[in-house]
Amino acid sequence: MTRTVMTFGTFDVFHVGHLRVIQRAAEFGDRLVVGVSADALNVSKKGRAPVFSEAERLEIVAALKPVDAVFIEESLELKRTYLTEHRADVLVMGDDWAGRFDEFKDICEVHYLPRTPAISTTALIEKISSGPV
Ligand code: CTP
Repeated sequence: MTRTVMTFGTFDVFHVGHLRVIQRAAEFGDRLVVGVSADALNVSKKGRAPVFSEAERLEIVAALKPVDAVFIEESLELKRTYLTEHRADVLVMGDDWAGRFDEFKDICEVHYLPRTPAISTTALIEKISSGPV
C-alpha cells in the first residue's frame, strides 16, 4: 500500500528551510503531495502578496526531487477536503503550526517538524530590501 504524505505552505522566495521540511516530510511515506497556497490566500493570511506568483511557486516546488504532485491551496478551510481527495495517510507541517491541525487526526497521522532555525521568507525580504551593509 502506498503511503501518501501531504504538506502545505507558501514557499515564497524558496529557501533551505522550505527544502528541508519537504525532504523530511517525504520520509514519512512513499508519495509526497504539496499544497502551495494561492496568491489570494497569502494576501488574506499574511497581509501581503507573495514575491513570486502562485504559478512560479508551484513550478519550483513541483521540480523538487521528493515531490510527486502539487496543487494550489485555495482556502485554509478546505484542508480536510484536500486530505480526503488526495487520500493522505500523513499530514506534515512545520512546528509554527503545532497543534493547529490536530482535528485531522481522525483521518490521518499529523506530525509537526521543528523549523530550520534563523531563516524565513519574511526575514529574507527584509534583509534584501535593506540593501548592502
Ligand atoms: N519552514 C521551516 N523552516 C523555516 C521556514 C519554514 O521548516 N525556517 C516550513 C514551515 O514550517 C512550513 C513550510 O516551511 O511548513 C512553508 O512555510 P512558509 O510559511 O511558506 O515559509 P516561511 O519562510 O515561514 O514564510 P514567512 O516568513 O512568510 O512566514
